[in-house]
Amino acid sequence: MAPKKKLLRALAGETTRVPPIWMMRQAGRYLPEYRATRARAGDFLTLCYTPELAAEVTLQPIRRFGFDAAILFADILLLPQALGAELWFEAGEGPRLSTTTTSDQVGALKPAQAAHETLAPVYETVRIVARELPPETALIGFAGAPWTVATYMVAGRGTPDQGPAHRLIAEDRATFSALIEHLTEATVEYLAAQVEAGVEAVKLFDSWAGSLEGRDFDDFAVAPTRRIASALKARFPGLPVIAFPREAGERYAGFARATGVDCVALDNSVDAAWAAGHVQIDGCVQGNLAPQHMVTGGQALIEETRRILRAFSGGPHVFNLGHGITPEADPENVALMVETVRAGV
Ligand code: CP3
Repeated sequence: MAPKKKLLRALAGETTRVPPIWMMRQAGRYLPEYRATRARAGDFLTLCYTPELAAEVTLQPIRRFGFDAAILFADILLLPQALGAELWFEAGEGPRLSTTTTSDQVGALKPAQAAHETLAPVYETVRIVARELPPETALIGFAGAPWTVATYMVAGRGTPDQGPAHRLIAEDRATFSALIEHLTEATVEYLAAQVEAGVEAVKLFDSWAGSLEGRDFDDFAVAPTRRIASALKARFPGLPVIAFPREAGERYAGFARATGVDCVALDNSVDAAWAAGHVQIDGCVQGNLAPQHMVTGGQALIEETRRILRAFSGGPHVFNLGHGITPEADPENVALMVETVRAGV
């Protein structure tokens, strides 16, 4: 039997001498080879929906840096598009969607199963990457968590404070809850299809979890994550699930217990020593070097990387950034981070 991949060992709760490492947005504009493939595709969505090209950019950071995991190249907004929302990207500004704010509009979304038609190329990307990855490299699938996806669907774009979604919760909680319910079911189907195509772990990106408080955090961040994790684990026993309730602050404590996920990804606003005592006590953590170090590099990168390694050395840990790498990052600094992690402390 092939030895278990390092990423999967850490997600299963094993403390490894050197943690597995990968990087959020590791396929991205900071890499010249990504920019070249994206230029060939013409635009971002065509890149996402062309399996050969999406597989190529998924593999590029593995070839260059030898990360322990590849993450499927796609976007969290493909699922709402597959459910019937219009989606486009404004150059230099980010995503735009048709808005979904009324109970009629939520009711008009396509059923979860119908989304597979649009998403079929994503599953083909998974099959290609699964075939081409080195045997020691794990493949991670992902989706947006329902709350984060809903914030884009309600506002029709990214927002600094998720104001439109919070207003809908205040004015028509039933409609907002129905949207979350639909996204929860569709996310289970989407991730299940990724697993069937060959991903070995899944991650839920809840980038805007930090703006939820009290009952809203429980209803719209914790409960959907718990339902998605338990539905997937019922279908695929032992499937590792990573959750990223970004900027959840103190609510990171207990999140794994409340949701049943195997690993909690930490953003870089969380102190690693605090997280070791309050989050890692429940299982694997992922994170959490500030992405800015990929721009600035140098001794500060090395020292901060070592501090995080030391803080999490007593338990299961997946080394990562605290958020996605930015286009201004220098690939040399990524190489320095990988080298520093692998040298150990
Ligand atoms: O991590 C990876 O390498 C896998 C691929 C991936 C992308 N987006 C590719 C992408 C993943 C996991 C995502 C998740 C995603 N997408 C999130 C959650 C994570 C986070 O960053 O908080 C969100 C909120 C989105 C929505 C989204 N997609 C935005 C707001 C933008 C525009 C911002 C920007 O950087 O331009 C995107 C576009 C996007 N998704 C790019 C990439 C590589 C850049 C597109 C380009 O090539 O121009």
